[in-house]
Amino acid sequence: MSETLPSSLALDLARVTEAGAIAAARWLGRGDKNLADKAAVDAMRDALERCPISGVVVIGEGEKDEAPMLYIGEEVGSGGPAVDIAVDPLEGTTLTAKGQPNALATFAIAPRGTMFNPGPAVYMEKLAGGPAIADLLSLDTPIEELLEAVAKRKGCHVRDIGVVVLDRDRHMEQIGRMRAAGARVRLIPDGDVAGSLMAVRPGTGIDLLWGVGGTPEGVLSASAIRSVGGRIIGRLWPRTEDEAAAITAAGLDLQRILDTDDLVGSQDTYFAATGVSDGDLVTGVRFFDDHAETDTLVLRGACRTQRVISSSIQAEARLKHIPGSGYENAARVMA
Ligand code: FBP
Repeated sequence: MSETLPSSLALDLARVTEAGAIAAARWLGRGDKNLADKAAVDAMRDALERCPISGVVVIGEGEKDEAPMLYIGEEVGSGGPAVDIAVDPLEGTTLTAKGQPNALATFAIAPRGTMFNPGPAVYMEKLAGGPAIADLLSLDTPIEELLEAVAKRKGCHVRDIGVVVLDRDRHMEQIGRMRAAGARVRLIPDGDVAGSLMAVRPGTGIDLLWGVGGTPEGVLSASAIRSVGGRIIGRLWPRTEDEAAAITAAGLDLQRILDTDDLVGSQDTYFAATGVSDGDLVTGVRFFDDHAETDTLVLRGACRTQRVISSSIQAEARLKHIPGSGYENAARVMA
């Protein structure tokens, strides 16, 4: 039997997403999502150099010719267990640009060869829910029936069921049906990784996530759900006939229901997310003269440990080494 990923990796991964979040948070509310994203990519790529893994990016910033760093197929890490990497340095670029909640710097790993490669499939229809209702999830059941079944299982009324949905025109018909059935719909402007986690964690007031969102975000969500429990299912959702043809040509099945373990085929996962802005899962970055504070959710699949690591990171010691942190001249700042 292969060895599990070491428990000490939790801190190493947290350092990577902390760096991304600190750099991105400098762009919070400044109206430029591309610069925010670039700051997070630069900082995380740099931090990954020191992360003790032998990683290959499976979910990253795009193909090599369009992404200078963290491109799909790039090898990263300072050496260690052979892993696949899903990285979204800034999940919620527009949230960050607008200074809105729930922007995260995220990163997940799983043993080499176990993460789903979405190829040209940009979008996926997703449905997620916690352990108590995992077996009820189906993308082919009419939403009214699904809501009834979930309410029955939870011993409540449909009016007590909360569904989180990305606020997109493509979802309007289904949102109308959910509301007509009596469910409470929480519309989010962006960020369905956070939405998926809300759906599977207890006490969030959210029972389900539904909607079409990014396929990469679906793989990241599945990595997290491996640790938390519950389930996410998905079906690839091409926007055009050309995209459908490209997905099929890549050997992917448009009809197939992708289950959590199709998206991440090992329980031996890690997921880390540091808050860029304040959100439902973690608090965002706080900047001080001589240090910064971060909150990071680290989930380990092997033993299903969920940790929130609150860090106070000193400028002179470490922040000055994080590109884009704003503390590059830390000694002078403190003089
Ligand atoms: P970005 O951080 O890349 O902007 O993605 C945010 C996000 O809302 C994801 O959480 C979601 O899966 C996807 O975009 C939805 O895509 P779109 O905005 O094109 O509907």
